[in-house]
Amino acid sequence: MSKLQPDLVLATGDLAHRGRRVELERAREILESLDARHLVVPGNHDIPYTFPARFTRTFAEWESIFGPVEQIYASDGLVVVGLNSVRPWRQQGGAVEDAAVHQAVARVREAQDSALRIVALHHHLAAPPWRAARKRPLRRRSQVLAALADAGAELVVGGHVHQASVTEVREFQAAAGRRTGSLVLATAPGFGRPRPHRSGEAQGLNVYESDPQTLTILTYAWGGRSFAEVGRRSFRRG
Ligand SMILES: [Fe+2]
Repeated sequence: MSKLQPDLVLATGDLAHRGRRVELERAREILESLDARHLVVPGNHDIPYTFPARFTRTFAEWESIFGPVEQIYASDGLVVVGLNSVRPWRQQGGAVEDAAVHQAVARVREAQDSALRIVALHHHLAAPPWRAARKRPLRRRSQVLAALADAGAELVVGGHVHQASVTEVREFQAAAGRRTGSLVLATAPGFGRPRPHRSGEAQGLNVYESDPQTLTILTYAWGGRSFAEVGRRSFRRG
C-alpha cells in the first residue's frame, strides 16, 4: 500500500461471511491499517444470515461500524459514489432503488469536470467470464447503466463474483447519444478467500489510475509472496 499511495481504497462488499459484528469489525481493522482513506459498500455476505435479524437489523451492524450504506467521496480529482445493492430477501440477487439511482446521478452530475467519476456497488453490471452463471448481475442493469452513462459516470466498479474483469460499454453495446469518452465496467477480484475450498480462485486487487486523458486499470494477483500485475487496460476519457 505504501508503494501505491492511493487517494482512496474502495471495497465493494462481501467483507464478512455471515454478516457477524466480529467479522465486520475485523474488516474495518484491516481497512484502517492501510493508512489511506476508504469507501465501502455492503455485499450480500455483510448482512445477518439468520432470521429475524436479517430483516429487522439488516444494516444495523454495518452502519454502526462503517457508517451509511451509501457513501460519497469527493475531491478535486475524484468523485466516488457508493450505491447499496443488497436486499435482505435475496441471498444472491441485487438491485438498487430508483431513488438511490437518482441520487447517484445527481452526485455524479455535480462533480467537477476534471474529476474522475466512479460509481461503486456490490452487484456487478458486467460479469467476469468464469462462474458468471451462478452470480446474477444487478437487476435492471440496463436502466441503471443508461442513467449513470447519461450522468457522465466514467467507471462503475462491482464485486460479488470475486473475480476480475474490465470492459468498456462500447465493446458490447452500440454508442448512443453524444457521449465521446469511455464508460468502463470493472469487477474487482476477491482480495481474501471466504471459502477455503476454492483454493484455485485468484486473489487480488484492481488499481485505478487516471490523468486528464486516460483511465488505466491494473489488475494484480497474489502469487504466494507478492502481488504481480496480470492485466492492464487503458481507456480514453471524455
Ligand atoms: Fe456477493
